[in-house]
Amino acid sequence: MQFHATGASAARQRTACAIVGIHEKGVMTGAARELDRVSGGAIARLLKRGDFRGKTAEVLPLVAPRRGPAERLLLVGLGARANFGRKAYRRGLVAATQWLAKSGAANAVSYLAADKVPGLEPYYAARHAVESVLATLYRTPDMKSGRKPPRAKLRRFGIALPAADVAAGRRGVLDGRGIAAGVALMRDLANLPPNVCTPSYLAVAARKLAGEHKGVRARVLDARAIRRLRMGSFLSVTRGSEEPPRLIVLEYRGGRAGEPPVALVGKGITFDTGGISLKQPPGMDEMKFDMSGAASVLGTIKSLASIGAKLNVVGVIPTCENMPSGRATKPGDIVTSMSGRTIEVLNTDAEGRLVLCDGITFARRFKPSAVVDIATLTGACVIALGAHYCGLFSPDEKLATAIADAGERADDRAWRLPVAEEYADLLKSNFADLANVGGREAGAITAACFLWKFADGLRWAHLDIAGTAYLTGSHKGSTGRPVPLLVDWLLHGR
Ligand code: BES
Ligand code: MN
Ligand code: ZN
Repeated sequence: MQFHATGASAARQRTACAIVGIHEKGVMTGAARELDRVSGGAIARLLKRGDFRGKTAEVLPLVAPRRGPAERLLLVGLGARANFGRKAYRRGLVAATQWLAKSGAANAVSYLAADKVPGLEPYYAARHAVESVLATLYRTPDMKSGRKPPRAKLRRFGIALPAADVAAGRRGVLDGRGIAAGVALMRDLANLPPNVCTPSYLAVAARKLAGEHKGVRARVLDARAIRRLRMGSFLSVTRGSEEPPRLIVLEYRGGRAGEPPVALVGKGITFDTGGISLKQPPGMDEMKFDMSGAASVLGTIKSLASIGAKLNVVGVIPTCENMPSGRATKPGDIVTSMSGRTIEVLNTDAEGRLVLCDGITFARRFKPSAVVDIATLTGACVIALGAHYCGLFSPDEKLATAIADAGERADDRAWRLPVAEEYADLLKSNFADLANVGGREAGAITAACFLWKFADGLRWAHLDIAGTAYLTGSHKGSTGRPVPLLVDWLLHGR
């Protein structure tokens, strides 16, 4: 797919499909008025007859108008003019793309941002357009044996902007493409079944990424090397499985040689049964998504490398399965983390923090300017925030604000929750330095506080993406979040 930002007027630009916005009460956008004029009043006639209400994401095609520069006019509802903003803009783009994907049009131009989108800079108008179109065209790697649905014919997509904004729009197109590529990589990896997407498979994916982009280097450590690092906490999680663990280290060098990297630590549990603290059967298949943090690290590095971002990032991915067996870690077992601290494993289903604490300790080797861990860490976070905002935790005011702001800009939101000693106290153990669970209350916060104990002296933040990384139900599948947030923070927010 090719994207381009354009400042040409709707009346003159030849295209297979002009995507034109209409607000409620038949209020035409500037492009709609221009196209109405050159197509002999076709849009005005249609609106007058009451065939289009302009509700957000409503679409109506006007195929083969006799006159004008467009072979098709796709009317897209943008809701009330007064409420128009990023949300309606993106919903309109998604609806238009869904229609285009089923049409014969090989190219299209969107005029939805041609009069500016209130509250949205032109860079973001273009970037969100690219991200929305590509996310809508995304198809999961499916293993269905039947015939595949035909692929969309769409090849070229123009984004019309006010002429003065085209340069900013071009930058948005470039970054949007990179973000979409990282989002697609994350979604592919997370959507794969857990018998395919194993720790070794993630390691191969990391090597492949390094092969595709200069500036990316992958190192993969096996069980022996992980043992040599004394990652007793990480290793306690993998004990019950036949599938071998991996520690993946991905380095992206786009910045100056001496510049300290940002470390991204991703939870890579390729299947979480809960271990001996076995989960209930309903929905257990969704625990294949428990490597979404890891996939978001691979996706983010893919995005940065595609964009050619000028900074250094290191991805640290402890990855394994969490399985029950005769050798599995038991509730009450005490393990020694890489930091030397001992942990009483009271619940083997609180395994994410056990792999992440060693990942965070390992990340110290790179003298990082900041460490962000990303994890489908707690069901409690899903209860607290649902599927819209991920949980954001950091004792560092500035870092927390920078990440939350990046989430707003990227349309991939995070909401801050506290990390504080009062909650960390709940992790006290009679037998070890700390316990891996804190009880029923404030589960997302005590999980974050566990990680905090391993991040002393670091500029650290934690993203709990248990509710946002994937959708359940009939739309079950990875969302690619928080790749847009992370890339925005790394490019514009640090
Ligand atoms: N991977 C789960 C968290 C999770 C739950 C992600 C639901 C997505 C949806 C994690 O390993 C886990 O099992 N956490 C436990 C922690 C508890 C034992 C303290 C949980 O949330 O129940
Ligand atoms: Mn678990
Ligand atoms: Zn888990």
